Amino acid sequence: MLTIHDKTFVPFIAAHEIQQRITALAAQINADYRDKQPLMVVILNGAVLFAADLFKQLTMPCEITFLRVSSYQKTGSTGQLKQVLGLSEPITDRDIIVVEDIVDTGLTLADVCEQLRESRPATLKVATLLFKPEALKRPLDLDYVGFDIENRFVVGYGLDYDGLGRNTQDIFVLSE
Ligand code: XMP
Ligand code: MG
Repeated sequence: MLTIHDKTFVPFIAAHEIQQRITALAAQINADYRDKQPLMVVILNGAVLFAADLFKQLTMPCEITFLRVSSYQKTGSTGQLKQVLGLSEPITDRDIIVVEDIVDTGLTLADVCEQLRESRPATLKVATLLFKPEALKRPLDLDYVGFDIENRFVVGYGLDYDGLGRNTQDIFVLSE
């Protein structure tokens, strides 16, 4: 069990399952980008642990950079992009892999991809550790998905509840 502020969370996805799945995603990405030099664009803060574990398993020459977006407050999506802090690297003609922790309504990622596409990358693909298919509000192509999960609030392994709970190896779900 994990208690954060006023809420209780119970184990949901164990560390070894997460790591196994990341190994499988990395194998797919290694095959798809064998002769390329992709740039991983990591959406802060939630995706930082997933991105680090994934990045370590990529075998092609690969770069990494970070983008900050924020649309979530407490345990409900506001659907509003509060902030997008721009990239310092040029992405024109690059092979971009956007890395996200979780796709909920999909509004965040759809906005980010739209903004990145304005700079005309050669290709743009998306990797997300978690995906809540039932919550999706905007059609979105997800190229690499770790786990499809139910529409419940999760924390851990980078994901937070009001700033806390990111520093665990397992993922937890809000207890009902
Ligand atoms: P949207 O709705 O735009 O949201 O796809 C994506 C962002 O919302 C956050 N998010 C969560 N954070 N537990 C969290 O800790 C969740 O269950 C959850 N669902 C969405 C997350 O920051 C993601 O980037
Ligand atoms: Mg996030």
